[in-house]
Amino acid sequence: MNKKFYITTAIDYVNGQPHLGHTYEKVLADTIARYHRLKGESVHFLTGVDEHGQKIQQKANAEGIEPLAYCDRITESFIDLTHRLKLTNDDFIRTTQERHKKVVTWALQTLFDKGLIYKAEYRGFYSVKEERFLQEKDRVNGEWPAMFGEVRELVESNYFFKLSQFQPWLVEFYNQHPDFIFPQYRRKQVLEFLKEPLNDLCISRPVERLQWGIPLPFDPNYVTYVWFDALLNYISAVGFGGENFNAYWPVDWHVIGKDILLPAHAIYWPTMLKALELPMPKHILAHGWWLVSGEKMSKSLGNAFNLFDWLETRGIDAVRYFLLREMVTGQDSEFSLENFENRYNNELANDWGNLISRTFNMVQRYCDGIVPTVDAQATELKSIWESTHQSICKHFDGFQFAQGLEELFKFIRELNKFIEVKAPWKLAKQTDEASLAELKSTLACLIEGIRLSVQWLQIVLPESSEKIMSALGIDPKPDFTWKVQHLAGTKITEKLLLFPKIVHSA
Ligand code: MSP
Repeated sequence: MNKKFYITTAIDYVNGQPHLGHTYEKVLADTIARYHRLKGESVHFLTGVDEHGQKIQQKANAEGIEPLAYCDRITESFIDLTHRLKLTNDDFIRTTQERHKKVVTWALQTLFDKGLIYKAEYRGFYSVKEERFLQEKDRVNGEWPAMFGEVRELVESNYFFKLSQFQPWLVEFYNQHPDFIFPQYRRKQVLEFLKEPLNDLCISRPVERLQWGIPLPFDPNYVTYVWFDALLNYISAVGFGGENFNAYWPVDWHVIGKDILLPAHAIYWPTMLKALELPMPKHILAHGWWLVSGEKMSKSLGNAFNLFDWLETRGIDAVRYFLLREMVTGQDSEFSLENFENRYNNELANDWGNLISRTFNMVQRYCDGIVPTVDAQATELKSIWESTHQSICKHFDGFQFAQGLEELFKFIRELNKFIEVKAPWKLAKQTDEASLAELKSTLACLIEGIRLSVQWLQIVLPESSEKIMSALGIDPKPDFTWKVQHLAGTKITEKLLLFPKIVHSA
């Protein structure tokens, strides 16, 4: 089996309903997956949910139901979201699935047998909210910051993974792989982090305190805890241990938020793989946060408005477009409905929606709905397209969807300008041959411009692009060369009114 382009997202905690932060990451990864498929690659796109842990146990207890029943319900919303967003994920992993538990159990036993997991007594300060022991350096001015919630002093025997022994290797790895993390400047933060000695990683919780986890195979009085469980989803989902595993692993891109880069993905995960003698991931993409008034959007902040209602009212394409167009990949972005509406009205309704409806109308009115056959190439538009196409490729290759879309929309505005300059409605009133030829070539060029644009837009706006592509009978196999004759003779019967303007009554 040939190696696939394998891309993953973080698996979301099911301790609450999905919010915009989760949505963004999944749309970003989906767009990258679609981009690689567009380039003809065989892609495997994985997403899923993280279902174990204390918070889940507490939530289920509070409702008086079994943790799995609680997970089933919330996971349903996450799965529903993948459908609504038209995500092209090939798989959806739940950490409560047997295929996952089997791999976690294997990993724990293997590391235990290698002497890389040991038992020790641990005394420390424990954050119930964060479900982890804190370190002295977590204090601010001698106090535990509010983000840790209630902090208790605990003494507990637990199992530890010998993380510290891999520190020199990790430093060397980061020195040798400058492009392991996108954006590249984040590697410096990792190296900075690695200047301090690493502690061994506590990987267990006693069952008296946490039952909702995967039992340690060598000690049933403990379950494994958060990261050791969650990170392994990336290999359990693609059949680790089976014969096809090498078709997926090493993963090409782990797409995650910047909050879970350090230490989880940049320190724990490579070390766990190294200890298990498995190849390193090829890359990690750490995206920024959606903020509300400068603060990370989270369950409480994110629920200020209902994501599902928003998707329903504005349509998934509009939401996907906004998320990718507004945020520079890797950086944070302030969320605002006003910005959304501006982009929607200016770019989707005015620039793109109008171009489609006007062009379709004109082909129907002036050419009986049949895309004219002409010799013209409109060389000016052709050369604008060629440079646009090149810069879109460059930006999309570097995950800069905002800039790539900006370039594409410049081209779309050129097409709209072309309509104004050529004024087909005036040409249609003339009776001479030259005007008629000009009219036809104008419309054929516009259709070609739309064909080329929609081929790109389909990775961001799947729903509306599908309608346009089917109305124009565009071949799913993309062809980005400008050739006015591409769709000559196609009959357009539909009227497409996409992205109706948002108007607020006073
Ligand atoms: N379960 C862990 C991840 C395990 S991966 C092996 C987790 N879950 S989470 O639900 O808290 O977050 C899931 C993803 O959503 C993370 O990558 C996180 O960065 C992302 N986002 C959550 N809120 C976000 C924003 N406000 N903005 C952008 N993405 C953020 O962490």
